[in-house]
Amino acid sequence: MTDSKVHSNIIFSQQIDIELRKIVQKYPIGKVFLLTDQIASGFCLPLIQEVIDEFSIRYVAIPSGEENKNIQSVGLVWDFLSNNAADRKSLLINIGGGMLTDLGGFAASTFKRGLDFVNIPTTLLAQVDASLGGKTGFNFNGLKNEIGVFMEPNSVIINTNFLKTIDRNNFLSGYAEMLKHGLIKSREHWDELLTFDMQNIDYDELQEIIAHSVAVKEWHVLNDLREQHIRKALNFGHTIGHAFESYAMKTGRPILHGYAVVYGMIAELYLSAKQCGLGIDELNSISAWMIAKYGKFEIQESDFEALYQLMTHDKKNEGKRINFTLISEIGQVEINVDCSKELIIEALLYYKNI
Ligand code: GLY
Repeated sequence: MTDSKVHSNIIFSQQIDIELRKIVQKYPIGKVFLLTDQIASGFCLPLIQEVIDEFSIRYVAIPSGEENKNIQSVGLVWDFLSNNAADRKSLLINIGGGMLTDLGGFAASTFKRGLDFVNIPTTLLAQVDASLGGKTGFNFNGLKNEIGVFMEPNSVIINTNFLKTIDRNNFLSGYAEMLKHGLIKSREHWDELLTFDMQNIDYDELQEIIAHSVAVKEWHVLNDLREQHIRKALNFGHTIGHAFESYAMKTGRPILHGYAVVYGMIAELYLSAKQCGLGIDELNSISAWMIAKYGKFEIQESDFEALYQLMTHDKKNEGKRINFTLISEIGQVEINVDCSKELIIEALLYYKNI
């Protein structure tokens, strides 16, 4: 099977009950299950209560939060499926943020060697990134998404009404992945993200922008599901970003994923200027815009070595080399770029002094 045949169906709808009914009715009664977490269950289940009742859908809620994205929670889902006689003809519906759709996707993909699953992402980060593209998994031994498989959901239902209640930090965290999509693939998308009014959000306009971002993500996934080549573009900002995220966690100052990606993008834009010809003016103006919106995670020169060591453990590395995705201009990406340790330290210095 070629990658281009395995994409899932992405549906934008403000009425998830209608879309869900269309999907659920294709499965035997009693063989549809629903996974959510303790936070999402409160506001999501009422929206689909009629469908739950009509099709006798059984559901389970696991504890919320990144700290619960572990094998114990996966075990809870497997137990639930097993105790309720799920089989290969069953469907699992995952409703929640990125942690939930990643973990639920993994549990579904591995139970009895795989059953169908549908994602209904409830955060901006999950709607533009995590719930799409088939990266499923959980954290293990303190390493993010260390265990997982590539398996595309059958459908993803995106309801932007969920975004009306997410807090500003989580909104910005998801927005960071959209900014990344603009930088790697489309100046037009980048420009619309920069001019979008984040103070007085127009939700119709937001849905359109989200659709553009989803299209960028899907283009990469369709062309390279298993990240052998062009999907690596989606890692822009993440090599240094993941180091920031882990370091922030280790030092007791945790930051949201998207914030770490923004700080990673600033350092990687510096590398882009040095290695790929990105203009210095562009580097400085993008970095200033990002810091104005996201603030700063303060670091000292004494933190650089620890950050560098974290980058050497990135699972995307091949052998000893740290594998960077950089840009030569907005919308033009270069994958598999090598950078020396000295240059990476310079990039951290650029970030620190900004
Ligand atoms: N979040 C990056 C990817 O899905 O490849």
